[in-house]
Amino acid sequence: MDNKKFQEMIDEFTLDSDAIKDVAASFRYDIEHGVKETGESSLRMLPSYIGLPTGKETGEYLALDFGGTNLRVVLIRLDGEGKFEVIKKVAKPLVVPGEYDFICADANADELFDFIADMIEEAVDGNRDKKYLLGHTFSFPSSQTNIYNARLIIWTKEFATKGVEGEVVNDLLKAALARKNLTNVEPTAVINDTVAVLLAAAYKLGNVNIGSIYATGHNTCYYETFTGMGKPAMVINMESGGFNKLAINKYDYKLDMESEKQYEQRLEKMVSGRYMGELLSYCLDDAWNIGKVEFTSIDISTILADNSDSLDGVCDLLKAKTNADITTDDAIWVKALAETIASRSARLVVATYCGIMWHLYPNGGIPKQFVAVDGSVYEKMPTIKDNMQKAIYEILGEEADKLELVLENGGSALGAALAAAMEPVEC
Ligand code: BGC
Repeated sequence: MDNKKFQEMIDEFTLDSDAIKDVAASFRYDIEHGVKETGESSLRMLPSYIGLPTGKETGEYLALDFGGTNLRVVLIRLDGEGKFEVIKKVAKPLVVPGEYDFICADANADELFDFIADMIEEAVDGNRDKKYLLGHTFSFPSSQTNIYNARLIIWTKEFATKGVEGEVVNDLLKAALARKNLTNVEPTAVINDTVAVLLAAAYKLGNVNIGSIYATGHNTCYYETFTGMGKPAMVINMESGGFNKLAINKYDYKLDMESEKQYEQRLEKMVSGRYMGELLSYCLDDAWNIGKVEFTSIDISTILADNSDSLDGVCDLLKAKTNADITTDDAIWVKALAETIASRSARLVVATYCGIMWHLYPNGGIPKQFVAVDGSVYEKMPTIKDNMQKAIYEILGEEADKLELVLENGGSALGAALAAAMEPVEC
């Protein structure tokens, strides 16, 4: 075991307080340039054509949650007062190894959307008479001209299905519903999952301006009131995973070169669950020459959760993956490395939230508010929440207690139903 090598790698992933403050400042710079459309921002800043709910929305809606490898169709009744009830839920993976795979480059749009239409048919029990309005949480960068019309700009999270990029996703869905004679289901609204999280939290808690996903992918939206460019106030999907004013190390570079979409999603590739395990794989290969052994963010969670003195859990995991016998001393280094990769991720994510705060309250005086976050990394990966909290203090100092991070679990479906129920923002 080469301790020096491990220490070097840990140093490469370490971000001190000054570094995250710089990231927050560059992020704010990109928001401001994005809002003013100067062409200097790496953020897409996509208008969502929706504001915040009143909390009084009511009625029954279908919600389609299409954002990761698990697809969900949910029939939801909104009861107002921040209350709702799930009436029916159908969930299926988009990939079952050895059976089907709708997200690989061999799959096409019709196959994918026919599969979704089948799930919708199941969710409405085959009913072809009753009218259903459908809200669609589509968690990929899409350029919108109104609440219905969202065109996929580019696949992220290693999705590769042919024939969807450049298309209006609800048109593809509508065509698939028509092929099944399900024209009583009417897709009316498309929102990003970050927007869904924000809407869901605003409906339930109020007092929230930021919605964020910290999972397989990463992205954040916020409620923008700047109307200087003649645009009404609305939620902006920043596509913050594409933020690129960041210093990368050689492992980030290698990951990017081997990814489906090179030079895209710089921040996402440094922070999200889809990529953290891969960064660990490249590091371990560099240290031990083990070739490309796949580690996932779940492996990182397993490593971080082992608090035993002997680190047997870490040793067992590495034995299972690499067939090598690892000593406790080796495992200590591996754990320290995994901790640093996870901590860099948490600190970068928080830097973006603080950048938004600086943009929204340029003269200080941040009002007390929630920041709504959903996603497996935030919810389940050990150390993440603590590191986020610590980084908020490092960046905002005294004002840190104004931000309260809250888990908005399952907000994608509720948000989609709300989007179908709400009046869109027109412009
Ligand atoms: C997508 C975003 C999405 C995020 C979280 C990213 O890869 O570009 O649109 O919000 O993943 O699902």
